[in-house]
Amino acid sequence: MDYIEHKMVEKASGESLPVDNSFITPLNVMLLSFLAYTLYNFMSPPKPLVLPPEPAPIVFRTFTPRTLLPYNGTSGMPVYLAVRGRVFDVSAGRNFYGPGGPYANFAGRDASRGLASHSFDEEMLTKDLDGPLDRLEGLDEEQKEAMQGWEERFEGKYLEVGRLVSQEEMGNMTSQTQTGGGGEGEGGNKAAHVVAA
Ligand code: HEM
Repeated sequence: MDYIEHKMVEKASGESLPVDNSFITPLNVMLLSFLAYTLYNFMSPPKPLVLPPEPAPIVFRTFTPRTLLPYNGTSGMPVYLAVRGRVFDVSAGRNFYGPGGPYANFAGRDASRGLASHSFDEEMLTKDLDGPLDRLEGLDEEQKEAMQGWEERFEGKYLEVGRLVSQEEMGNMTSQTQTGGGGEGEGGNKAAHVVAA
């Protein structure tokens, strides 16, 4: 019974009828609660946005065989290796290259010749860390292709974090920077932030 009908019956009978409480049904209570909850959410101030912490900036560095050496996964260091002068962060493959891994001897080293020759021999690694880089002379076409295959694999899988130069090249670059010569700066590459390691 709506309000007007209710009043008419009340007038005709001369007495006041009991108020119709049919509005208070479980469904209406639920709907009202939902409405109140929605309104509350709508009106309350938005929660402050919590952004995930920023990843550490990637610094493209110039390494020599000696400065690359500590990056072998020991003492909490990341694992880097070099292929054809490109230094990759292979820490994600720590199981392979980290201490005790099957390819641990490549960690912190120029792995080019070993990868090309499918060999873990010490002979494959640059002995004189302050001498010239391995110019990879004497590799046949098949070995060069194998090396390129590894390089491409690393390129797709790992982050390139720098390049490898000999101690002498590093010395030249540093003196050029100090005398203001050379247009390339310390690293001379495309990365935004380049430092010598
Ligand atoms: C008995 C011979 C060998 C066996 C059974 C073997 C086995 C394997 C296996 C199962 C993987 C993992 C592949 C994957 O999940 O992506 C792997 C990866 C690899 N192997 Fe070998 N391997 C052998 C010899 C060699 C040799 C001689 C070299 C080079 C000197 C080599 C270098 C590598 C490298 C660099 C990786 C890639 C790790 C990465 O993705 O970072 N392996 N090998």
